[in-house]
Amino acid sequence: MRSPIPEYLDEVLRTCAGDRAGAVADYVPELAAADAEQLAVAVSAVDGTVYEAGDSRTSFTIQSISKPFTYALALADRGYEAVLAKIGVEPSGEAFNELSLEEGSARPRNPMINVGALAAHTLAGPPGASRAERFERVVSGISAFAGRRLEIDEAVCRSEMETAHRNLAIAHMLRSYEVIEEDAPHVVEDYVRQCSLLVTTRDLALMAATLANGGVQPVTGEQVVSRDVVRQVLSVMTTCGMYDAAGDWVTTVGIPAKSGVSGGILGVLSGQVGIGVFSPRLDRHGNSVRGVRVCERLSADMGLHMM
Ligand code: DON
Repeated sequence: MRSPIPEYLDEVLRTCAGDRAGAVADYVPELAAADAEQLAVAVSAVDGTVYEAGDSRTSFTIQSISKPFTYALALADRGYEAVLAKIGVEPSGEAFNELSLEEGSARPRNPMINVGALAAHTLAGPPGASRAERFERVVSGISAFAGRRLEIDEAVCRSEMETAHRNLAIAHMLRSYEVIEEDAPHVVEDYVRQCSLLVTTRDLALMAATLANGGVQPVTGEQVVSRDVVRQVLSVMTTCGMYDAAGDWVTTVGIPAKSGVSGGILGVLSGQVGIGVFSPRLDRHGNSVRGVRVCERLSADMGLHMM
């Protein structure tokens, strides 16, 4: 018998497509050029079976959705203590690009905001790795979650670098507090390249399914990171992944998730499914308006809420 899931996903997209609220991110000129009408959903079971609808094979830059994966690589490469000494796990209650550190410890509050993500980027790879080795570890590590080598959108990367003043300020602040030891502009450039990795909504679902599957990529069978690392990453995603909307998200959708300014959202229900959604218009928190709608529908219809 044919699965009813594809028709169901089509129907969910149809009901959410009418919502034209929000605006495409425009602080990076190349992102402002995105087709605002794009809409996609993909759901992957932990055995790697993917159901998808809409523009699920269209590529867009991963942006902040790269953050939990770089954090996972840092934990895998440096261990908990070393990473926790540099990056906290508390929600910040501030904008994703705020220049702020925890009082007293001078740590970034968590790895899902830019200040923590820039620090996490420098902790990927073994201590003493060269800049090129570290960057390759980030690209190949994030790619391993997707199960295929991801490419960089050079145009988006260049465009963001032209206006990266805020991230440069953050990186210089990190350097002055000795959270990072590397050259601040190099760290920003590599972080922006990390954010410019191209993914599809289908990739997001498989990356999420890898987290749902205890760190084993369901298609390649590779143990990308350990189960303990996954637990830490999903915990931080639960409290910090949707920025200031974390409370609304956890009460309505109820699964660990991470959003990005291109309009992607990745959600994980441990042991069950990975979800990817994509639509470029964002709400005031920086989360995809229709992406949130789609996830609310899936959560309600499929009983995904973790409580
Ligand atoms: O650091 C930045 O500004 C971007 N490259 C990534 C930000 C992002 O995706 C924030 N998420 N909603």
